[in-house]
Amino acid sequence: MNATPDFRFDGRVAVVTGAGRGLGRAHALLLAERGAKVVVNDLGGTKEGEGSDAGPANDVVQEITAAGGIAVADSNNVGTEEGCHALVDTAIREFGRVDIVVNNAGISRFATFPQADAENLERTLDVHVRGTWHTTRAAWPHMVKQGYGRVVTTTSTGMFGLPDNLAYATAKGALIGFTRSLSVEAASHGILVNCIAPNAITRPSTSAAKPNITTTPLDDARMQAMQTDLVSPMVAYLAHEDCKVNGEILVAGARRFARWFLAVTPGYRSDNPAVPTVEEIAEHWDEVNDQTGYYVPETLHHWASQFMAHLGA
Ligand code: NAI
Repeated sequence: MNATPDFRFDGRVAVVTGAGRGLGRAHALLLAERGAKVVVNDLGGTKEGEGSDAGPANDVVQEITAAGGIAVADSNNVGTEEGCHALVDTAIREFGRVDIVVNNAGISRFATFPQADAENLERTLDVHVRGTWHTTRAAWPHMVKQGYGRVVTTTSTGMFGLPDNLAYATAKGALIGFTRSLSVEAASHGILVNCIAPNAITRPSTSAAKPNITTTPLDDARMQAMQTDLVSPMVAYLAHEDCKVNGEILVAGARRFARWFLAVTPGYRSDNPAVPTVEEIAEHWDEVNDQTGYYVPETLHHWASQFMAHLGA
């Protein structure tokens, strides 16, 4: 089925970070194919974030232009604030605006705790968290001025528990807080901020990259089933003007598209006028955890209205 062919991006300018390879490349190709002018950013280093190479970004730009699209390469390092500002400057200089930022660049430095050291944490936070923060922040005044913008951040289901890559999971968790809080502020400016949790086979997914994890062997069928371009339609939807959601996390890959949400149980409320005891909590543990009637807070205020409903308005 050829769904909604009118989801196009003509006149829109997209910045895609880490677009020289893997998922970012697939996102950039799809946005360009649908009419967006794309800034293909990639530092071009190793999967651990060492070195640089302008080749991957240039190759993707060539691929886009050969197919009749419009793109420009950018090899700034989103692991630095200057790099992020220079990247957005490229969009403004080359195309005069920035409508879409897909924060996709990432590195992966497998290490467990406590071997994962300060450098591991900092380098990981630099690219994933600070890179997303500064690139979005550099684009923000342009989006506010034009009263329009679409920001996509990239988290990971590693958030569900990835002990061998603790810094990575920590960074990806931070991006959920960033996405949700920024989305509240964004709405009044015509900006939507959503988060993708992709699932595809790329260079960090190879078993060699995960020294302590046994993964299903990557045979051809599995590689085909988990191609990067199976994630990009969701990213393009979140980047489109007709996107209906804000502050959401969507999981995409292997032809499945799903919502990942944060929910709270109604919990146990003590009627004890004194400070509840530890024993009381232990006794009511099942009620604390009972998922019946859980709610999905849209904002902090929404959560507070549910959690403290018994205190009255
Ligand atoms: P990849 O390694 O194939 O691509 C990442 C790209 O980002 C590389 O081309 C790299 O050169 C670029 N990059 C890294 N640091 C950069 C920097 N400082 N400045 C500019 N570019 C930089 O990896 P993949 O899998 O395509 O990852 C893309 C995003 O998706 C990452 O944020 C990753 O954490 C996330 N992700 C991927 C999953 C998967 O299943 N492949 C699962 C969950 C999250």
